[in-house]
Amino acid sequence: MHNELQRFITEKLPIIDAKLNSLLGDANVSETLKSSMVYSINAGGKRIRPLLVLATIDDLGVESEDALTVACAAELLHTYSLIHDDLPCMDDDDFRRGKPTNHIVYGEGVAVLAGDALQTLAFGSLTHLSETSAEDTLRIIRLLANASGAAGMVGGQMLDIEGETKKLSLPELETIHINKTGALLSFCIGAGAILAGLNEEKSAKLENFAYHIGLAFQIQDDILDITSTTEELGKTVGSDAISEKSTYPSLLGLEGASARLAEHHQSAKDSLMFLETERPLLGLFADYIVERKS
Ligand code: IPE
Ligand code: IPE
Ligand code: MG
Ligand code: MG
Ligand code: MG
Repeated sequence: MHNELQRFITEKLPIIDAKLNSLLGDANVSETLKSSMVYSINAGGKRIRPLLVLATIDDLGVESEDALTVACAAELLHTYSLIHDDLPCMDDDDFRRGKPTNHIVYGEGVAVLAGDALQTLAFGSLTHLSETSAEDTLRIIRLLANASGAAGMVGGQMLDIEGETKKLSLPELETIHINKTGALLSFCIGAGAILAGLNEEKSAKLENFAYHIGLAFQIQDDILDITSTTEELGKTVGSDAISEKSTYPSLLGLEGASARLAEHHQSAKDSLMFLETERPLLGLFADYIVERKS
């Protein structure tokens, strides 16, 4: 990882963690539910989504107190999606972020509810933006609703289930990846653009960047499911093959998948040409996403 990105991440991680824990600290009627939410939030995620929100506004040269809240909303939503994704009725995985999955520790009922509560907390926290106009706050909430619901992540997860045990075409697989994974990553960058007051033309370029890193991110996730180890990845490897999922490597082979990954990486970097910064953090993130080993 590039030094500058490492520095940025080292600086931001504790701030993100503190904010997430303060959001979780608010009213909660059940200690077990709270403990289950805290367990998954603090289990050791890479925090790529919140970091992307913060990197976007940094690259656009603005400061926004609300960026941290938006960043944490994305991580709350993402963590909920992982808890549900691991359930026996979904991918049936028992290891995540280097620890037993939520339902292994707390049971399926609690895990479902922890996911539900993290999701509503994500939306609730967005109603507390302090310096963003009501109109932009609504735009951000709408963006998250679209990215995470039936027209985004949940819809992608649905197609992912329907795609099990049958061989999908590449365009079908791309649609799944763009929705189940790309949509939330796009939210992070799009919300950053709203906070920064970016114009439509430049926002479209960032959208294009987000599209390519979204695909690149899930292609690398699929590759790591084959090439990595459970220890290094912190989640069970080989899970896709067991559930007979169509993935980039299963359709194109590992080499073909890597070639696609490289294309999306290049297209992502090309979309950032409009930024005046010499070495934008988002470009370094694109490098990290394709090079990452976990
Ligand atoms: C994993 O996301 C799930 C996918 C969308 C592929 P991450 O690799 O960002 O997982 P954490 O947050 O670091 O655990
Ligand atoms: C899941 O994709 C994307 C989500 C919306 C959670 P995967 O099922 O491939 O994610 P991992 O590999 O379990 O993290
Ligand atoms: Mg899955
Ligand atoms: Mg999974
Ligand atoms: Mg995976």
